[in-house]
Amino acid sequence: MGAATGIGLVFNSIVPHFLAAHVDTVDYVEVIPETLWTDRGRLATRRYEPIPAAFDEVDALAERYPIACHGIGLSIGSASALDEQHLAEIRRFADRYGVDRISEHFGFSRVRGPEGDDHHLGLAFPIPCDNDILSWMIGRIERAMGILGQPIILENGVHHTPLIEQDMTEPEFLNRIAEVTGCGVLLDLHNLHADHRNGGHAPLAYIEALDLEHVREIHIAGGSMIGRTYTDSHAGPCPPEVWDLLVDVAPRCPLLEGITFEFHDSYFPRMGSEGLCQQLQSAREIWAGLPRRHDVT
Ligand SMILES: [Fe+2]
Repeated sequence: MGAATGIGLVFNSIVPHFLAAHVDTVDYVEVIPETLWTDRGRLATRRYEPIPAAFDEVDALAERYPIACHGIGLSIGSASALDEQHLAEIRRFADRYGVDRISEHFGFSRVRGPEGDDHHLGLAFPIPCDNDILSWMIGRIERAMGILGQPIILENGVHHTPLIEQDMTEPEFLNRIAEVTGCGVLLDLHNLHADHRNGGHAPLAYIEALDLEHVREIHIAGGSMIGRTYTDSHAGPCPPEVWDLLVDVAPRCPLLEGITFEFHDSYFPRMGSEGLCQQLQSAREIWAGLPRRHDVT
């Protein structure tokens, strides 16, 4: 199977049915491996319980499409010990499907419990971009990549809890990490849009500060309001502002391998197959207009 390049879709319960009827709308499928198993936690004797039906669906998709890996469970920014068991499980997933792009989130979602276990926060929080944390993060990322056997790419998250004081901005921090470790960046344009909607930094300021040579993948998605907060709920079509960002930034990422549309299956009725086809077609038109050097297969 070839590399996961071009236009991708994040795997969920709708995707196998959608792709059966719309085979050529995507070039690869991006799978969140944690949706394929039950994780009983670090202290469990039998920690991972596969969900056979979910693996069967991905096995079938893998016969036709390259698979990219998009982890949500590592919590690379946690102060607790690096979760090497989890990384080994991700490695097994990547080896099974010949994955050549493994992404994770730049943030933390777990804190250490009293018995050495982990407490999940239910939300990803930002990492303070300070000099002392930089060297600590570099060590964790290098160890993670050693277990994975390939570079990891880190995705910018939404800042639900902005940090007041930092030694450097997040894009500067990511630049430094990528330069030292060789990791890449997954630039989620909708997450930038969500921050902006909630009064945070301007997306273009973030993009201008980021070294776009490190960007290997771009995420696009839609969101929705919950109370007075705009969330990255993946609730349907991309807003126009995200398309504008994509048109602007994609040509400036010389090592870009793929543009992935994320949607949550619970919102599928709002969008329907036709709406999903339109999103993927719009992304494909932008991809097709990129300079030839973006065909990195
Ligand atoms: Fe994303």
